[in-house]
Amino acid sequence: MHNIQHITPDLVYVGASDRRTALFENVYPIPRGVSYNSYLLLDEKTALLDTADAAVASQFLENVAAALAGRQLDYLIVNHMEPDHAATLADVLLRYPQATLVCTAKAAQMMEQFFGSNISAHQLITVKEGDTLALGRHTLAFAMAPMVHWPEVMVTYDTTDHILFSADAFGTFGALSGNLYADELNFAGEWLNDARRYFINIVGKYGVQVQALLKKAAALDIKMICPLHGPVWRENIEWFVAKHDLWSRYEPEDKAVVIIYGSIYGHTEAAALRLGTLLAGRGVRNIKAYDASRTHASKLVAECFRASHIVLASSTYNNGIFTPMENLLADLKAHCWQNRTVALIENGTWAPQSGKLMRAELEQMKDIRILGDALTLKSALRAEQEEALQALADEIAKSL
Ligand code: FEO
Repeated sequence: MHNIQHITPDLVYVGASDRRTALFENVYPIPRGVSYNSYLLLDEKTALLDTADAAVASQFLENVAAALAGRQLDYLIVNHMEPDHAATLADVLLRYPQATLVCTAKAAQMMEQFFGSNISAHQLITVKEGDTLALGRHTLAFAMAPMVHWPEVMVTYDTTDHILFSADAFGTFGALSGNLYADELNFAGEWLNDARRYFINIVGKYGVQVQALLKKAAALDIKMICPLHGPVWRENIEWFVAKHDLWSRYEPEDKAVVIIYGSIYGHTEAAALRLGTLLAGRGVRNIKAYDASRTHASKLVAECFRASHIVLASSTYNNGIFTPMENLLADLKAHCWQNRTVALIENGTWAPQSGKLMRAELEQMKDIRILGDALTLKSALRAEQEEALQALADEIAKSL
């Protein structure tokens, strides 16, 4: 049975949601699932905007057939060639061989890499910035969005109904349950954390390119955003755009403290949590603490982007940084994390090193302000160190 939804009389949602895949891109946990969105425009000509992941292939293909209702497919517009949107491209062309592919030259090249020359030799129009495609009542305009999230990405703007098909931009993790629009959901309460985790981990590295896309989008009259993941935006668009603006400028979203500890037997953890209590005593609210060994790095990275102040507490391990903390720092560096205030706690029973090593990693990132020296524990926090911990809490609270 199909599961299609009309967005307008001639625009149909033909995507599908996936609650079975455990790891998106085989790396990011998606306990709330994910949707792979695809849209069909039914004009004098018909145009399908992107396809879907192999995980939802049968539902997606059934949806396309139902929405076409016997009509032929004239265009298959490929905004993004990543397999979560393009894995079923060959299946669509098998069913609708008369469809003409519309994509960037780079996407055509990737098509050949993924599918071989059978598909790339299909009738295909390559488009560039500002090119248009007339479907009848609707005229589509294409805008390049390189590195949001791959180099071949473009977005498509329906100049007639003022709808932006934004590819990965403005997407989120989270499966859809029937409500297609963000304004029908408790987005700020139930979706924002996943939207941030999606954005930061998928395109957080490409802030400059996201800013370029936001600038292009600002010049358009946008009444609706149809992304490739998550709900469609038709209300409060500026609120969600403002979040992306902050994230892509590497500005903290909240003046807040996040404590992340890598602790082998719990002594580093105890010191980190004591610091949390001392911060609370200084009026700091909404403190969050995470065990780096038990929290997925994608969540930690997203939290480091959200908050202005981060405490990193780590044991020394193999004469280096404790592995989960070492991995987190590598992940933060890979995502161009910057412009934050950090306090450090190190621990080591015979040769504490992790503070010096964490500092060296942080110094390779841009605009990371480290508060004072690392507080050094030798195995465990001693009573006489309370004063030093109080001083660190003072410094963090003062700089908030
Ligand atoms: Fe949702 Fe970059 O693919």
